[in-house]
Amino acid sequence: CQVCSVFFFIVLIPEFANISVCMKDPERVQDIIVSMQKAGSNTLQVIADFDMTLTRFAYNGKRCPTCHNILDNSLLIDDECKKELKDLLNTYYPIEIDSSRPVEEKLPLMVEWWTKAHELLIEQRIRKDDLAKVVSQSEAKLREGYGFFFDHLHEHSIPLLIFSAGIGDILEEVIRQAGVFHSNVNVFSNYMDFDELGVLHGFKGELIHVYNKREGAMLNTGHFRELRARPNVLLLGDSLGDLSMADGVQDMENILKIGFLNDKVEDRRQFYLDSFDIVLVKDETLDVPNAIIRYLT
Ligand code: TMP
Ligand code: MG
Repeated sequence: CQVCSVFFFIVLIPEFANISVCMKDPERVQDIIVSMQKAGSNTLQVIADFDMTLTRFAYNGKRCPTCHNILDNSLLIDDECKKELKDLLNTYYPIEIDSSRPVEEKLPLMVEWWTKAHELLIEQRIRKDDLAKVVSQSEAKLREGYGFFFDHLHEHSIPLLIFSAGIGDILEEVIRQAGVFHSNVNVFSNYMDFDELGVLHGFKGELIHVYNKREGAMLNTGHFRELRARPNVLLLGDSLGDLSMADGVQDMENILKIGFLNDKVEDRRQFYLDSFDIVLVKDETLDVPNAIIRYLT
């Protein structure tokens, strides 16, 4: 019953009393967590989006950069190109988060955004050797509690798949510089392709944008096949497109979906409550996912 669920949460996972936590069906969440706990941590895998999920949305009232923004704001990009990338962001980001438009309508527009942005980046002749410096000079910030999140999953040999429509080379560098790129981490993302001189001349493989993660998962069935013995999934995302990140998991038993609702909160609250089991509203920490992981291990 509702009262038991509330009791369960507050006693066993006190972080559920945090002001940011919203749930449409707390009893369902309780059932999923109890089943996962009974199954044991050796049946668990974590699948997380990167930008605005593992990284912060804002810090001291200022927006934090996505993988793309880390490059866009750097010295590697000339002023004219910076302006063009900013114009693209101002045009397409409102479409990405517009809950009044159906996904089918947004799909071609997202492809357009990523394609144009990548073409602009390629024109800048970005050098592979400069990426580490650009990341270290950027304002990229992993969410508070990232240390426990990455270290604890590693210590308990729980696989972490980071599934990002950002840029793989950049996100790897962010987690490497934070000292948490452990051996249990796998990344599906857009990786840069460099020529023999180490200059960017394209992107590898099929494009991943915010609304085609299901297709991305289907291209990587081998990864999920290896994790067949881990049918319990903790999914973390900030976009409705992130809900399909676990579609490649074979013989899924339980999935607990946690959604960070960072922006346009009032417009999107109901969509998020209907789609994610737990919604974290304007929460810049990993406290709740960490508390669940602690309970499950
Ligand atoms: P994610 O899948 O790791 O969240 O990455 C996707 C985010 O990247 C998405 O929210 C939009 C953002 N993005 C930019 O900030 N600039 C760009 O040029 C592009 C193409 C995407
Ligand atoms: Mg995201």
